[in-house]
Formats: sequence, C-alpha cells, structure tokens
Amino acid sequence: TYVIGLPCVDVKDRACVEECPVDCIYEGERTLYIHPEECVDCGACEPVCPVEAIYYEDDLPGDQEKFLDINAEFFNELGSPGGAARLGPTHKDHPAVQALPPQGE
Ligand code: F3S
Ligand code: F3S
Repeated sequence: TYVIGLPCVDVKDRACVEECPVDCIYEGERTLYIHPEECVDCGACEPVCPVEAIYYEDDLPGDQEKFLDINAEFFNELGSPGGAARLGPTHKDHPAVQALPPQGE
C-alpha cells in the first residue's frame, strides 16, 4: 500500500484525492489517510503531492514508519467504506495525529 506521512498534517492539499482511481484516500481533520486494503498500489497519488507526503510502504523514511500503522488503524472503526467521496470528511484523526503539535510554518 501507499501511505500518507507527516508532511500532510495541517496541510491537506488534497491533490492526491483526484488522482486515485479507486477513491481510497480519506479525509480526517488534520491529515488524509490511505486505506491499505482499498489501495491498488497504482502510484498515481505519490508524484502529485506538493509536500511529498506520500510514500510506498517500503520507502517510508525511518522517522515516519509509524504512519504505516497510523493509516491502517484509522480504518479500525470505519471499516472499508469503499469510496472517500461518498463518505465525505470524517472530522476524526488517529490518536497519534491528534497528539501532534501544530505543523507547518
Ligand atoms: Fe496531503 Fe499531499 Fe494529499 S498534502 S492531502 S498527501 S496531496
Ligand atoms: Fe490510490 Fe493508487 Fe495512491 S490506488 S492511494 S492513487 S497508489
């Protein structure tokens, strides 16, 4: 799966959402999350993120490895909604994202 990492937090550019052919990039309050079972590993989202927040799971920098679990665990309650547009913004975040101090300049 592809994974959204730390640079998305408090940025949420959303360019990635329009590129995803299976609409598996879901909006939280402070960041977006890729559904690991819905993602088809096409790679289309990765180059369009202006802050380079998207990584293939094996390419996550060491200090962002926890985002593999963060993206996956975000869906513990949501399950597999089968489309982010239909679900809409969730106004929720993974606890580890909630705990982050404000990001950005
Ligand atoms: Fe976030 Fe980049 Fe997408 S900032 S919303 S991962 S385009
Ligand atoms: Fe979607 Fe492809 Fe990225 S399935 S999440 S655009 S790797």
